[in-house]
Amino acid sequence: MGYKAKFRIWRGEGGEGRLEDFTVEVNEGEVVLDVIHRLQATQTPDLAVRWNCKAGKCGSCSMEINGRPRLGCMTRMSTFEESETITVTPLRTFPVIKDLVTDVSFNYQKAREVPSFTPPADVKPGEYRMQQVDVERSQEFRKCIECFMCQNVCHVIRDHEENKPNFSGPRYFIRIAELDMHPYDVAERKEPAQEEHGLGYCNITKCCTEVCPEHIKITDNAIIPMKERVVDRKYDPLVWLGSKIFKRQR
Ligand code: SF4
Ligand code: SF4
Ligand code: FES
Repeated sequence: MGYKAKFRIWRGEGGEGRLEDFTVEVNEGEVVLDVIHRLQATQTPDLAVRWNCKAGKCGSCSMEINGRPRLGCMTRMSTFEESETITVTPLRTFPVIKDLVTDVSFNYQKAREVPSFTPPADVKPGEYRMQQVDVERSQEFRKCIECFMCQNVCHVIRDHEENKPNFSGPRYFIRIAELDMHPYDVAERKEPAQEEHGLGYCNITKCCTEVCPEHIKITDNAIIPMKERVVDRKYDPLVWLGSKIFKRQR
């Protein structure tokens, strides 16, 4: 059965903005993004929202719903009380372009700073052989849909613009871990993770893991193992020596 819901939505651009109240029809089975689309269709055609797949797979519709980062297309209206006012605001860590649309180019810049998969020169395509356990380990990280909600919630950059140049964030820690754990990647990842990507800033609060819509265990499976690898490399003389002799150490 349909009902009228109360929405409070952040509107604005160019650094200026305010919350605006709306009352809007909701039908059974709808998600927050459906309601925003109905608002666009019936009351506020210039309300800006980014979306694409409406299936939880493109990562475009990230927004803060009642203060928590969520995908608008995966947040069911049935999870709220009908009497509740639902507040929708843009991701706070990134500059607002307009209304609910933020400029997430910080993340693309950080992505470019991670060198791509670097196989050994003497192994030809088709000759790679991997253990199933190595395949499965990286599969988890490859589920990332780049919604950037982990980046948005990380306290190192959420209210600290000044940390952004030195901190790539959890999304890129899983990318670095994925490559460092790959048996055929020969690029040096550990020292750059610490020195250039700011792994040491992370104090394992796990906020990133809590919001990941793909349920990637960002801290337990990527950040903590990477921190251990960095420490092993730095303080274990045998590991250090082995890495020099055998070029890389797993
Ligand atoms: S665990 Fe680390 S990367 Fe994740 S939110 Fe906390 S400080 Fe940020
Ligand atoms: S790791 Fe999870 S929260 Fe972070 S960008 Fe990828 S899918 Fe989104
Ligand atoms: S529209 Fe693609 S994840 Fe929501």
